[in-house]
Order: sequence, then C-alpha cells, then structure tokens
Amino acid sequence: MAIVIDGKLISQQIQEELALEVKTIKTNGGKTPHLAAILVGNDGASETYVGAKVKACEKIGFKSTLVRLSQDTTEQELLYIIKGLNADADIDGYIVQLPLPKHINEQHIIEAVDPKKDVDGFHPQSVGRMALNLPTYLPATPYGILQLLERYKIETVGKHCVVIGRSHIVGSPMSILMARNTNPGNCTVTMCHSRTANLKEFTLKADIIIVALGKPEFLTADMVKDGVVVIDVGITRVTSDSTKSGFKLLGDVKYDEVAAKSSFITPVPGGVGPMTIASLLVNTLKASKKEVYK
Ligand code: GUN
Repeated sequence: MAIVIDGKLISQQIQEELALEVKTIKTNGGKTPHLAAILVGNDGASETYVGAKVKACEKIGFKSTLVRLSQDTTEQELLYIIKGLNADADIDGYIVQLPLPKHINEQHIIEAVDPKKDVDGFHPQSVGRMALNLPTYLPATPYGILQLLERYKIETVGKHCVVIGRSHIVGSPMSILMARNTNPGNCTVTMCHSRTANLKEFTLKADIIIVALGKPEFLTADMVKDGVVVIDVGITRVTSDSTKSGFKLLGDVKYDEVAAKSSFITPVPGGVGPMTIASLLVNTLKASKKEVYK
C-alpha cells in the first residue's frame, strides 16, 4: 500500500522554518522580505490563490502588497505598474497572477518582470538559467514537487520519470528539472503530451509519473506498474451529489486504484497544491537575501 505524501504537512513545516528565519533576520536588524502580487480582474480561482499567498506572507512575518487592477486594465497600464515594482527597492519579488484578461499579451508581461524579482520563475531568463542549472528562481509548482521528493527521501537517480503535460508552468519545467544533474534529478525523462501515441507504453515503464494535464481521473491502474511513485498535479472542481458543498476536487489520477499499486502517491487535495505557496515564499526569501543575484 502506498505511502501518502502529505503536502499540507510539508508546506506547513517549510513555512515554520521560514518564519523562524525571518524572526532571526528581523532581530538582527535585517530587511523584512516583501512580496507583491498583481491581480487583474476578478477571476474567482485567481482571487483565492492570490488571497492565500498574501495571507501566508503575513503569517510568517513577510510584508505583502496586493495590487488589484480592474478587468479592463490595458497592457500599457499593467506594464507601467510593473515598471514601478521593478524600481521599488523595498519589494524583493513579485508575481503577476495568470491567466490575464485576453486583451493582454501574457508573454509581454512575463518579459517585463525584472528577472531579479521574478519569484515565479516564468521569465525566459529564469527558464534558461534553470535549464543550464545556474542559480535562479524555480517555478513554484515544480519546485514544490522537488521538495516533496526530497523530504520523503524518494530515490530519483537513474529512474525513468514520465511527465504527462507540457505546460510552461508545470510539465515543461518539471521534465527539465527531473533530468538535471541534481538531487532530486538524474532521471531518464520521457515527456508525454496530448499528441503522444501509445501513452500507456510509456507509463507502464515509468518508475515515477508526474501528471499535470487537468483531466480528472485520467491515470488509471492499468497504466502503471507496481511500486510506481505518482505525483498528481491536477485539481479540477466537479459537481458532486455526495458532498454538502455540491462539488468536489479531483486530481488527474484515479486515486484509489492507482494508490493500491503505488509506493508513494500525492492526494488531491493536500498533495502538490499546498506546496506552491511554500515554494513562492522560499523564492521571496532568496530574493530578499540576494541569494540568486548578488
Ligand atoms: N496561475 C496558475 N499558477 C500560477 C503561478 O504559479 N503563478 C502565477 N503568477 N499565476 C499562476
């Protein structure tokens, strides 16, 4: 039976460690880490995510600034705000919550962020430095998955890792990170996506499967071998008659049947999800301490 990877617990532990470090920094007269977040429009999910990020900052003693902009903000206006954050010496790092309204070109925005403050790790310079194994900010969700693998002492060297999904936020960076000469890392990686033929041929050979597709219960027991490590990044809200709220959250893995064959598995919710905030906070502290760029 699988060991269930408790992302909520690990995220809490990391946040406690960060809180202690911030306390010491403050006692020694150092700078309080300061994260800013830009939220454009009023997408419900984005509001929840950004709210949770700001709350987590307060809890561990960081400063936070939330910049709320209306849905009809123009690209020019947003670029002007970004210029201001780039120049603001008190702000160590910031994020622009995605997705942005359709009339704004996301890539223009991502490239306007000063890489020194790019705690989301989305700027092409950050992505390139990650691929080259140079100091940088790693994107929050992949970084969170590395933390889970490390803290659960899951062996990755020489393993065959199958990543399903090639998004810029999760799948692509995850495939790069698992192949790097680092620990966790040193895997033989197969990157699968919507155009992969005979996906099952690959997943059946995998020692580690990382699924980031956004298709509820996509990975089934017949697709995995015994002893596999399964990391489920999906989180989809579906209607349900069996819950009081009328909905439930489903991952990309058919959990019960896949868990029965796995050595380790992340649940949904409570697996990868809580780790993204912890990673963002780690990156913000690194930015504040000028650990990545001197
Ligand atoms: N939207 C979904 N995930 C993320 C993330 O990690 N960062 C930002 N800025 N937006 C997101």
